[in-house]
Amino acid sequence: MKKPDYGVDAPGVTLILVLFSMAGAGLALFAGYYPSGTWSSSLFSFGIWAGAVCFLEAVLMLLYARFGKFRHRNRMLKLNKIRGHEQVLDVGTGRGLLMVGAAKQLITGKATGIDIWSSKDLGNNKKELALKNAELEGVADKVNIETVDITSNELPDNAFDLVLSNLCLHNIKSKEQRERACKEIYRVLATGGTAIISDFRHTGQYAAVFEALHMEVIKKGPYLLDTFPPLRVVVAKKIC
Ligand SMILES: C[S@@+](CC[C@H](N)C(=O)[O-])C[C@H]1O[C@@H](n2cnc3c(N)ncnc32)[C@H](O)[C@@H]1O
Repeated sequence: MKKPDYGVDAPGVTLILVLFSMAGAGLALFAGYYPSGTWSSSLFSFGIWAGAVCFLEAVLMLLYARFGKFRHRNRMLKLNKIRGHEQVLDVGTGRGLLMVGAAKQLITGKATGIDIWSSKDLGNNKKELALKNAELEGVADKVNIETVDITSNELPDNAFDLVLSNLCLHNIKSKEQRERACKEIYRVLATGGTAIISDFRHTGQYAAVFEALHMEVIKKGPYLLDTFPPLRVVVAKKIC
């Protein structure tokens, strides 16, 4: 039977790192042909070190995509106990990693995944593949997948008990638009609901926007052992 596949994040970045590591090795080989002198020894060391660092980063990114993201998803889901009747939103669901994880814990509730399906952010990023994963995981009847940009105003007010998001909001380039995305997350959360937002940068900004909206905010991470780039999590509860 086919297995679910949650894809590789930022495949272009991983490819560039592999190419740089090959270029580093090439540079070291080239320098190695010349008799050892100051410039050839320096070039050799630079090629070896730059190549090794890029190679290590590419390997860590692939390890996160294959193993770490499941541990991180479980960690995020443990931060807010799902009872089974909630409405859950996964912002930037991609192939449905968090949406499916939440749906597995739902009884009458529903998990909605929204995305704009950018293949730069996730390899082979398609709505149909998110649905396919939900089918393979046996939760297709508990999910709802929609093409929605989180900075748009398309989702209803106070509609979700739990909003999840992993590695999505940093893809929004401008600070103003990221702030808008955080405000949208606040708007669609029901009072008493929780947002759990994970990212490798700008988490300080997300926390500040949520705090300004009088949410109760806790910051967690970075998780250095099983995420790469190291992820931090902002947990924000809407209390009024
Ligand atoms: C790195 S992928 C992570 C996917 C998934 N959350 C995971 O952890 O496997 C980031 C996702 O965010 C989506 N995305 C980027 N900007 C978005 C936006 N403004 N609104 C909704 N989704 C967005 C991308 O299309 C992509 O699927």
